[in-house]
Amino acid sequence: MAVERTLSIIKPDAVAKNVIGKIITRFEDAGLAIVAGRMMQLSREQAEGFYAVHRERPFFGELVSFMISGPVFVQVLEGENAILKNRDLMGATDPKKAAPGTIRADFADSIDANAVHGSDSAENAAIEIAYFFKPEEVTSR
Ligand code: TYD
Repeated sequence: MAVERTLSIIKPDAVAKNVIGKIITRFEDAGLAIVAGRMMQLSREQAEGFYAVHRERPFFGELVSFMISGPVFVQVLEGENAILKNRDLMGATDPKKAAPGTIRADFADSIDANAVHGSDSAENAAIEIAYFFKPEEVTSR
């Protein structure tokens, strides 16, 4: 299986709950390593640009407002099958539908405040990592 990198964001609701460490432990226990990371307060422009694919969706305005409502922890995860592995660890977008034991089932309150973001494809992972990190900011194991 290929070693991949994926972008993960611990969203404002999870940062406010003080569970950054608990979430990162799930990644590490699953064999993923943090190879880049930083706390950030996203600007409106940064959040709008990041979620540009959703610009026409009805929830776009609320999504952007939520993402700038407090600090986030942005990180690059590296490991075998990292993109799908992270999506599996996260669980379904709506925490009410997320499988027991997933990050969203355990830490998220609602579909809009759902604790984590994770890239959904190799193509988007590359775009999203470059959106937040310069190549020299991403280390390797
Ligand atoms: P999406 O890319 O569909 O989900 P995921 O984060 O699981 O890849 O949607 C992006 C974010 O938009 C999602 O994490 C939360 C928000 N969102 C809503 O607020 N309401 C919705 O109905 C949907 C589908 C998403």
